[in-house]
Amino acid sequence: MSTTALDIGSYSFKALVGNPGPNPKISTIVESLNPSGIAVPNDDASQTKLTKVMEAFFNDYKLPSDKLRLSLPESIVSTKVISIPPLSDAELASAIDWQAEQNIPIPSEDLSLQYEVIYRPKDRFKKMMQVLLVATRKSIVERYMVMFEDLGMEPTLIETQMLSLIRSLQFTATDEDTMVVDWGGSGMGIAMMSGVRLQFVTHHLGGGTLLTRTLEKSLGLDHKQAEAYKRTFGLDEKQLEGRIKKVLLPVVMEVIDQLKRSMQFYSTNNPQKSVKRIVLAGGSANLVGLVPLITATLGVEVLLVSPLSTVKADKEKVDLSRINQTVMGVVVGMMMRND
Ligand SMILES: Nc1ncnc2c1ncn2[C@@H]1O[C@H](COP(=O)(O)OP(=O)(O)OP(=O)(O)O)[C@@H](O)[C@H]1O
Ligand SMILES: [Mg+2]
Repeated sequence: MSTTALDIGSYSFKALVGNPGPNPKISTIVESLNPSGIAVPNDDASQTKLTKVMEAFFNDYKLPSDKLRLSLPESIVSTKVISIPPLSDAELASAIDWQAEQNIPIPSEDLSLQYEVIYRPKDRFKKMMQVLLVATRKSIVERYMVMFEDLGMEPTLIETQMLSLIRSLQFTATDEDTMVVDWGGSGMGIAMMSGVRLQFVTHHLGGGTLLTRTLEKSLGLDHKQAEAYKRTFGLDEKQLEGRIKKVLLPVVMEVIDQLKRSMQFYSTNNPQKSVKRIVLAGGSANLVGLVPLITATLGVEVLLVSPLSTVKADKEKVDLSRINQTVMGVVVGMMMRND
């Protein structure tokens, strides 16, 4: 029976259908615009709208719905890595609520918490253990649950987009310190990795939709034109006398400034460490001229993700060369989970 992995993006839905595992075999891969622009249903009206477009999406692409994996947007999740004195599993289980209260800004009655020990030192007197806390608001998760129930579906696995994306990148212990950036339509997620260990995750407003809107307003273009100009010319100053670049650049520089602040935060808290690489994911990572601009501004190596290298595709049904790779990290990572 096939599994469907689903990423509900504010700009587009992404889905993979196939057999999960470290090298997933896939029979369908889809990216389709989200006509509602809603990724997080936070009231009844937006929930109804998203349910309708989700139903059409599943029908249009004939996606199987019995085994559904769902990744939640980073904007509604609080992902924290905490360092605490080493505890046994049982001790941790009784201390975790208090730890969550200290570290997560969600009232306990609305808190849905998952946790995982990501580092336990061999010498329990010398070093701290690290625990990953993933917290969401029950009220928002319930809306997703009701939405899928209305569609006759039940997610069998839920995680967060950044954790899915990180899995798709297959970090190893010897990897250099890397900042993972998912720059999508509505916002930007940042995760810091040191080897295989997650250091922190943050989320910021200001996705690619902001760039398109800025072009609309500044140059009096309609939405479609602005989107096309953004994609075709991006930050290329040789095009249209550099007019597109001139409008986009200040917004992009603010985003790069955010990356710089995260890099500084990391080295301030870890004096012997510094970010050596930035790995860019999400649709906005494709902006023409972005990679050289970040390299020049921040002085680190910048790479675009290529998550499809780990999947095996049914060649008769799927043409991977037509797919925009940078937006597929989340669904690929979800499919790479064994359970
Ligand atoms: N070639 C390109 N150049 C510039 N921007 C692009 C390009 N291709 C896609 N984009 C932009 O990428 C954004 C969509 O990215 P993505 O699919 O990662 O977002 P999303 O996952 O739907 O949104 P979010 O996760 O923020 O809810 C849009 O703003 C789109 O205009
Ligand atoms: Mg996204």
